[in-house]
Amino acid sequence: MTEKAKGGEAQKAAKGVDVLELAKRRGFFWPAFELYGGAAGFYDYGPLGALLKARIEGIIRDFYVREEGCLLLESPVLTPLKVWEASGHTTGMADLLAECTKCKEPHRADHLVEEKAKTSADGLGAAELDALIAKHRIKCQRCGNPLGPVTKFNLMFATSIGPGARSVPATLRPETAQTTYLPFRRLYDLARKKLPFGVIQIGKSFRNEISPRKAITRLREFTQAEVQWYLPPELETHSGFAGVAKRRVRVLTKEAQVGDGKEVVLSMAQVAERSGQWIAYFLARSMDLYRGMGIPEATLRLRQHRDDERSFYSKDTWDVEYESPLFGRLELVGIADRGQYDLGQHAKASGQDLSAETPAGRAVPRVIEVAYGIDRPVFCALESALRQEGDRAVLALPPSLAPYQVAVFPLVSKDGLPDTATALWKELRAAGLFALYDEGFIGKVYYRQDEAGTPLCVTVDYDTLKDGTVTVRDRDTQKQVREPMAGLAARLREMLARAR
Ligand code: GAP
Repeated sequence: MTEKAKGGEAQKAAKGVDVLELAKRRGFFWPAFELYGGAAGFYDYGPLGALLKARIEGIIRDFYVREEGCLLLESPVLTPLKVWEASGHTTGMADLLAECTKCKEPHRADHLVEEKAKTSADGLGAAELDALIAKHRIKCQRCGNPLGPVTKFNLMFATSIGPGARSVPATLRPETAQTTYLPFRRLYDLARKKLPFGVIQIGKSFRNEISPRKAITRLREFTQAEVQWYLPPELETHSGFAGVAKRRVRVLTKEAQVGDGKEVVLSMAQVAERSGQWIAYFLARSMDLYRGMGIPEATLRLRQHRDDERSFYSKDTWDVEYESPLFGRLELVGIADRGQYDLGQHAKASGQDLSAETPAGRAVPRVIEVAYGIDRPVFCALESALRQEGDRAVLALPPSLAPYQVAVFPLVSKDGLPDTATALWKELRAAGLFALYDEGFIGKVYYRQDEAGTPLCVTVDYDTLKDGTVTVRDRDTQKQVREPMAGLAARLREMLARAR
């Protein structure tokens, strides 16, 4: 079966199962603060979801630190306001708001216009959106009354650091990137004063989104894994590019978005001709990472930002987008050429020298940013993995993402079987496997573990007491084999590796 057919099949199957209902029921994620009526844009990750999210973070962190040689950094999320004044976020980090004149319901003006007028609103200003709202007679989506004029709304959460008169204005960071630029001089020293080098920071970012929605895909508090590559400004080649140059991918170019809107298939070499080898290389490697998370290539495409849509700091931006059966297109990662903008701004505002040695003499480095969100791939991996097979729902996550690798349980809860199963469970955990203990009617336990994405189930039965063997059941094929308890951890590892 082709990748495209596989992707189509997974999407069709996923439609039969409610991924959000399963996420709540099995403990992947649910709306936060439910006890007090909730707060839009905030979610709890439950026991399975927190593990899945940690695995996705781990895949991205390990790829960049181990394979790409990046430095790992962790900075505070609470940041003095002057950082954001210097970077331009106090004016640039804003969306356009249309509030209801009666009930005060907030609407994100561009999204509302796109939905109701069926036209792209990217890059439009307040006056243009006002005109479209009037032309299409768009009203409040909650109460039907007129909307007020469109205004700019800054997305940063404001607070202060310290008490009383000496308190300092501050914000929760809306991206990790700026907090990675600030210690540039220390990082440059640690990189032995040699460009290029990369720094990855994984952590929370905060945006007071006007209308958070679509579960964990548009949050007010979310996790990012952002990589900043510092380059000599004139460097165009990337040493790994040849390995990805021939790869062909579906692309929506910036020209197509103002033209016929049609996707084309381009080689990464053609992408590099448009935007350079650095952007092309990390687009290709990001697609690899998503495929490794079980997200079918057929659901992914590359999209280049139009000139009127790009963030204020960027000279060129590309996204990897995922097509969700439930939520439509979602941006998973943004790869941007930020030029010398950010370090230049901080050098100016702080009065410090943020230049580096380059083959052409001292210069402020150019930054290529690879900005991943972590919450969206959690959702995409779940949606891609979920399928209905007869009366069972199966979360066919790759073993590398599965919250638990194996579940152990007794066939019945008597005659000493729970004791043997518990001892085996402890042994498997001690051997380094993420193992769960479960009990109950065997069919129900299997279904519960299928929905939890656990690749292997081990059942202790009466034969175990006689001959020391157990049944190992594969989640995806439902095939069962007998295996001795002695050396079981190693056998399970082999099975997990084969299932990859
Ligand atoms: N430093 C650049 C930057 O922040 P971005 O495109 O705004 O770029 C990068 O964000 C990634 O962070 C997005 O591709 C997305 O995966 C994730 N992200 C952004 N806003 C989000 C939100 N409100 N909720 C969940 N994830 C979000």
